[in-house]
Amino acid sequence: MFDIKAVRKDFPVLDRQVNGKKLVYLDSAATSQKPLSVIKSLTDYYENYNANIHRGIHTLSEEATEAFEVTREKLRQFIDAAEVHEIIFTKNATEAINLVAQTYGRQNVLPGDEIVITPMEHHSNFVPWQQLALEREAKLVFLPLTEEGEIDLVAAEKLITKKTRIVAVTQMSNVLGTINPINELAKLAHNVGAVILVDGAQGVPHLQTSVRELDCDFLAFSMHKLLGPTGVGVLWGRESLLNAMPPYMTGGDMINSVSREKTTWNELPWKFEAGTPNIADVIASAAAIDYLNALGMDAVRAHEIELVEYAIKGLKGLGDAQIYGPHDATKRGGVISFNFKDVHPHDVGQILNDAGIAIRAGHHCCQPLMRDLKVMGTARASFYIYNTKEEVDILLEALKEADKVLGHVACR
Ligand SMILES: Cc1ncc(COP(=O)(O)O)c(C=O)c1O
Repeated sequence: MFDIKAVRKDFPVLDRQVNGKKLVYLDSAATSQKPLSVIKSLTDYYENYNANIHRGIHTLSEEATEAFEVTREKLRQFIDAAEVHEIIFTKNATEAINLVAQTYGRQNVLPGDEIVITPMEHHSNFVPWQQLALEREAKLVFLPLTEEGEIDLVAAEKLITKKTRIVAVTQMSNVLGTINPINELAKLAHNVGAVILVDGAQGVPHLQTSVRELDCDFLAFSMHKLLGPTGVGVLWGRESLLNAMPPYMTGGDMINSVSREKTTWNELPWKFEAGTPNIADVIASAAAIDYLNALGMDAVRAHEIELVEYAIKGLKGLGDAQIYGPHDATKRGGVISFNFKDVHPHDVGQILNDAGIAIRAGHHCCQPLMRDLKVMGTARASFYIYNTKEEVDILLEALKEADKVLGHVACR
C-alpha cells in the first residue's frame, strides 16, 4: 500500500474548493487528475526543448525526439509488449479503435462475416464496429450478459464461430465496473481464426496489464485516464498484423518515399503516425507511467478494491440505491454506477456538485446498455489512487442529505 496523504499532495487540484466545499473528485473514469510531475514535464518541454521531432538535426529536435521515444519504450514495458514499434500514438482510445476498424476491419471483414462485441461497450468500441458491419454487410453479434453484468462465457462459446472475424471487448466496463475474462475470450477468438481487440481505456489505468498474458491482438487506451495529459491515445498491435494493415492516414512522416506516381510507407510505428504528433503530451505521459510504476499497479488495484468494497457497503446501507454490475469488489474496477430512488441521476449529480462532489451522471456513452438496464442513465462515482474512505463517507453523507430533498421531490 502507498502513503495516500503523500499521493494527494502531488495533485494540486485536490486542494481546490467547489461551491465553498473541499473538492471530492469522483470522476476519474471520465478523466484522471494529473500529478505535478506530469504538469512540470509539460512546461519543461515548452520552456527548454520545444522542437519538432524525427526531422531536425539540431539539438532541440534531438532532445525532443529522444524524450518522445522514451515514452514509447516506457509504454512497451508498462503493457509488456514484445516490441517498441508495436506501440502507436493516436489522439485517444477512440482513434486507436477507429484505426483498427478502418484498416484491419476493412481489409478482413467481408459480407456475411461477423463482428462480436458486448452490450457493455462504450460507444467508442461500439459505433466503429457497427459502422464497419453496415459498410461491409457483416453482422454485429452481441455476447449476452448475466444478471450480475458479466459476460456469459457459455453463450460466448456458441456465438464466436468460424464466421467471426473480430471480437472487440472492453477490459473493464465504464458503467458496470465488470472486469472481463479477456484471456478466455482470446482463446475462443483464436480457436476460430479471429482476432481480439481489447478496449483498455478503463482497464489499463487500474489493472496490471500484460498484452502477452491477455493474449490479445490489439489494445487501445487513453493516457488522460492514466494520470497523463489529454490528447494521447495508444494502440498496441501485434507486429505481424500491423505490418499487413494499410495506413490509416497519409501525409508527412508516415512515408518512406514519394514520387509523382507513387508513395511507399514508412516502417512501424511511423506508418500509422501521419503528421506532427502531440509531442508535449506524449513526452509528459512518461511522467504518468513513472508515477504509477513507483506506486506499483498491484497497490493501485488493492487500494481500489478496498474503496469499492467500502463504497458498495455504504451505498447498500442507504436502502434504495440500486447498484449496477458485480457487487464483489474483486470482480470489478473502481467505477460504481447507481440509481438513487426514482430520482433522475442528473439531479443527484447536481446536488452532489453543490456539496463539492464531482460525479458523472447520464448514459456514460453506453446508450444500448442503458436501454438493456431500462434506465435513462445512472449516477457514477469512480475512484483512483488519490481517493480516500473519508471521501466515500462525504459522498454517502451527501446522498443522505440529497434523500431529504430528492425523496421529497420524487413523492410529488
Ligand atoms: C471503456 C471506454 N472505452 C473508450 C473510451 C473512450 O476514451 P477516449 O474518449 O479517451 O477516446 C472511454 C472513455 O470514457 C471508456 O470509458
